[in-house]
Amino acid sequence: MADTTKTATLTIDGTDYELPVHQPTAGPDVVDIRKLYGQAGVFTYDPGFTSTASCDSTITYIDGDAGILTHRGYPIDQLAGKSHFLEVCFLLLYGYLPKAEELEDFETTVTRHTMIHEQMHNFFRGFRRDAHPMATMVGVVGAMSAFYHDSTDISDERQREIASFRLIAKMPTIAAMAYKYSIGQPFVYPRNDLDYAANFLHMCFSVPAEEYHVDPILARAMDRIFTLHADHEQNASTSTVRLASSSGANPFACVAAGIACLWGPAHGGANQACLEMLKEIGTPDQIPEYIARAKDKNDPFRLMGFGHRVYKNFDPRAKVMKQSADEVLDLLGVEDNPTLQVAKDLEKAALEDPYFTEKKLFPNVDFYSGIILEAMGFPTAMFTPIFALSRTVGWVSQWKEQLSDPQMKIGRPRQLYQGENLRDYVDIENR
Ligand code: SDX
Repeated sequence: MADTTKTATLTIDGTDYELPVHQPTAGPDVVDIRKLYGQAGVFTYDPGFTSTASCDSTITYIDGDAGILTHRGYPIDQLAGKSHFLEVCFLLLYGYLPKAEELEDFETTVTRHTMIHEQMHNFFRGFRRDAHPMATMVGVVGAMSAFYHDSTDISDERQREIASFRLIAKMPTIAAMAYKYSIGQPFVYPRNDLDYAANFLHMCFSVPAEEYHVDPILARAMDRIFTLHADHEQNASTSTVRLASSSGANPFACVAAGIACLWGPAHGGANQACLEMLKEIGTPDQIPEYIARAKDKNDPFRLMGFGHRVYKNFDPRAKVMKQSADEVLDLLGVEDNPTLQVAKDLEKAALEDPYFTEKKLFPNVDFYSGIILEAMGFPTAMFTPIFALSRTVGWVSQWKEQLSDPQMKIGRPRQLYQGENLRDYVDIENR
């Protein structure tokens, strides 16, 4: 962290406390309160961490007002248009764009880690067929720590790297197996002659009874969806992974915790919730009723796929996703998809409504992704597993960064206690 000469003064009960202010490469200045409790005997209060920087990082930067997202300085729209997911994985993990031979080595390494231990197949059979695939993924990924003991020592840099390869490589296999299990079809092994996205589509949609040809346009759209979901600063699931890792937990346990957090409909579960909402709306003439419900403070309903803690402008990922949606639906000859029509009309209606524009509630990454995934043939229950598969590289990159930070210590927030003061126990006969 850069040394700082800038300070902020906090006055409490007539005493001034000088707090260092760190100036970032980009974004707001950061007031360093690490010594505040020791000096002033007070805590700061920030449930939901709306004004709190939990760490310093060099991986991803978001300018929510400008609608900018960069990975190691490269804008997401350029990466989505010119790069591909495994190159973005290399960039997130190592901090620079690889030379051709470096990229080839990395892709070969990931390809060679795509199979899972054969005995892990038994885990899937312990679940009901109608288990949500996210439940299966939380369980199976957590169980990886019972199989890959040679990459759980977080003090060993090489083991950290191997664990990173294993998680990035095996997540598509596990997600595809969760899908196949849920529909009663046999598991499909990965193929080393296919690229990352094509391999995932192959493992999801091929069957032993016939040849399956991966359409290159769908593979490209799948790869782009992976890239758009790869990392996103200190979002809830990434913060979960960092907090779990701060206790020294192994990488597979930490990523399983991240998957569990991502599942929530306010976070990664929003893509499934958004498509279910669009289907519930059904036709454009029903849109005004749902917009009224979203604005009604007495109604818990919110427009899924709208709003964001950081973006107070368009989510740049949503713009790219919208282009992909048009391409995929055009290719599949479903450009008149009624759900897409409701999505486009809903977006237009919301963006013309002062409630949404004044609160800066714009479509986020989850608004269009579900439409593409449904058009590709995925059930809504597979949307969040695909988000988890994509975000694994972000979780792993942030996990590695935290472990290499000499300042790292166990995360242990305090609280604003509002409970009872000290009191004596009362025997039951005296109550
Ligand atoms: C992701 O953090 C990340 O980076 C996440 C993510 C990533 O890549 O990791 O980008 C992925 O999680 C995207 C977000 C997906 N979630 C949804 O689409 C669910 C719907 N959105 C909302 O639940 C909400 O917008 C959040 C959770 C995304 C953000 O919530 P905030 O920042 O805590 O905002 P808030 O709840 O304080 O809302 C501010 C106001 C409130 O009204 P007031 O109390 O001020 O009157 O806006 C309203 C909210 O009621 N509001 C909405 C709304 N979102 C916020 N009203 C209607 N519909 C919505 N979607």
